[in-house]
Amino acid sequence: MWDLWLERAKPIMPVMVIEDVAHAIPLAQALVAGGVRLLEVTLRTQAGLDAIKLIRHAVPEAIVGAGTVTNAMQFEQALAKGAQFVVSPGSSTELFEAAGAWGGAYLPGVATASEVMQARERGFRYQKLFPAMAIGGESVLSAFSGPFADVHFCPTGGIDAHNYRQWLTHRNVFAVGGSWLTPAEQLQRHQWSTIQAMAISC
Ligand code: 3PG
Repeated sequence: MWDLWLERAKPIMPVMVIEDVAHAIPLAQALVAGGVRLLEVTLRTQAGLDAIKLIRHAVPEAIVGAGTVTNAMQFEQALAKGAQFVVSPGSSTELFEAAGAWGGAYLPGVATASEVMQARERGFRYQKLFPAMAIGGESVLSAFSGPFADVHFCPTGGIDAHNYRQWLTHRNVFAVGGSWLTPAEQLQRHQWSTIQAMAISC
């Protein structure tokens, strides 16, 4: 699925923390207009679930998923709102089972070799490396590239406008994620054109 999506989307996954559901559509439109289509809406705000539903219906060019999903109940709620993919900061048996029953695009979070192996055993070869910078940065990717040559990572956590291109140079990176494209201050000020310009420049 990720391969197919990446044919028409930049390999950038904004982590969207939406406090006001009214921001969901203009924010998604601004990102999509800049070619940034893989949108991770976190469930760490009340508005997250409804934001997914709104974006799914109003911004068809977007590929919208749920982030910060930490249990099976949130997983089901996200799917019910139309999430096309699900991301979690770590992984658990409960989440693996929910993802297995669904059969869709699930990105488990991993930070250690054992976690990479557990997720791979369950069939998940696309994984979120989190928190990427805190666990050692790019050297972790290089170290994982030997034993886990068949695993593709989306590093997230500490990635920003200055370093994301460097992360994308790694062969085992299929996308990078982060909140730098959707700063809270710009959302509050409705600076959609600024966000669009940042997305275009990626
Ligand atoms: C996430 O939920 O993926 C992270 O909080 C994003 O990390 P960042 O804010 O450092 O980009």
